[in-house]
Amino acid sequence: MHCVRKVCEDLYWVGGNDHRLALFENIFPLPKGVSYNSYLLMDEKTVLFDTVDWDVCRQMLENIRHVLQDRPLDYLVVNHMEPDHCEGIEELLLRYPDLQVISTEKSFLLMRQFNYPVDGRTIEVKEGDTMSFGRHTIAFVQAPMVHWPEVMVSYDTTNGVLFSADAFGSFGALDGKLFNDEVDFDRDWLDEARRYYTNIVGKYGAHVQAIMAKAAGLDIRYICPLHGPVWRSDFDYLFDKYQRWSTYTPETDGVVIVYASMYGNTESVAQTLAAKLTEKGVRHVAVRDVSNTHFSDLIADVFRYSHIIFASVTYNLGIYPLMHNLLIDMKALNVQKRICGIIENGSWAPKAGSLIHTFLDEEMKQMSILNTELTVVSSLRPDKEGELDALAEGIVDTMGKGADA
Ligand code: FEO
Repeated sequence: MHCVRKVCEDLYWVGGNDHRLALFENIFPLPKGVSYNSYLLMDEKTVLFDTVDWDVCRQMLENIRHVLQDRPLDYLVVNHMEPDHCEGIEELLLRYPDLQVISTEKSFLLMRQFNYPVDGRTIEVKEGDTMSFGRHTIAFVQAPMVHWPEVMVSYDTTNGVLFSADAFGSFGALDGKLFNDEVDFDRDWLDEARRYYTNIVGKYGAHVQAIMAKAAGLDIRYICPLHGPVWRSDFDYLFDKYQRWSTYTPETDGVVIVYASMYGNTESVAQTLAAKLTEKGVRHVAVRDVSNTHFSDLIADVFRYSHIIFASVTYNLGIYPLMHNLLIDMKALNVQKRICGIIENGSWAPKAGSLIHTFLDEEMKQMSILNTELTVVSSLRPDKEGELDALAEGIVDTMGKGADA
């Protein structure tokens, strides 16, 4: 059965939703599923914008057939050549023998690498090119590294629709809703949108800034991303989130305390610190166990909060492995401009703290480290409470002051 939504005049969502996939990119859990968005423009020519992952390919094909009725599919625009949006290409080429594929030079290179039989059916476009399909004229804008190098976005100059590729997308299946104003985005979608952005595109903030600058000059009425809801209102809200995320600016003045604890003693320090901060009036305090929180959630948290406290046991004279992994991932995703605190624990040779300090200092950018670092030997005893209080004071004193405080 087809499952189609009308986006606006002449344009239809013909993608699919997947609740069965456990791990996106075989790494990111999908507790709320995921959507793969594909859009079909019914003009004098028919134009499909991107395809879907193989898991929902038959749904997309049925949707396309339903909207086309007896018409052929004339063009396929490939904005992003990552397989989760391209598994339908070969099937479409087989079903629609006159179909031509519009994309960038780099995208066609990838298409051949992935073995899609596209030769002889390609139309190569570059920055600023336009094509008219009847009433609608589409402009093509390059958006490299948002999130792969071949990416472009397409803008329908007739009705103000921006086909934004991975930009402005989110994890989460649509489940019947299509538009941002059909959901409570802030309550039900923001966390997954943040987790999607920070883990998938987070590394490429400067490139996201570049495409936002280009988008600022357009009269955008709809944003159609490849995952998650279509935006047709509240653009300021969305752009504010993207502005913060892509400039590594915290969204929330608050603290995430990430702890690594083997027997609960370091956890106890983290909990005590959280209680002290809350007593001092800090409204947003999150406590995360690095051992049972997926790293993608931790990455979303460190993008969100202004302050990060690392509380780690010493392990093999090093940083606890999962905490070390988090630091490496933060570096890979370019996390920067945060105020950090350090708590180490070690029963005979505490070492994790100095190693975390060195990593933040030497491997990462603009990380400001509070000088109230705390060493715990096995467990927190009353004679150390003053040092924990000093750390809490240091956090409170730098709240709202940014990483330069
Ligand atoms: Fe959903 Fe970068 O692909």
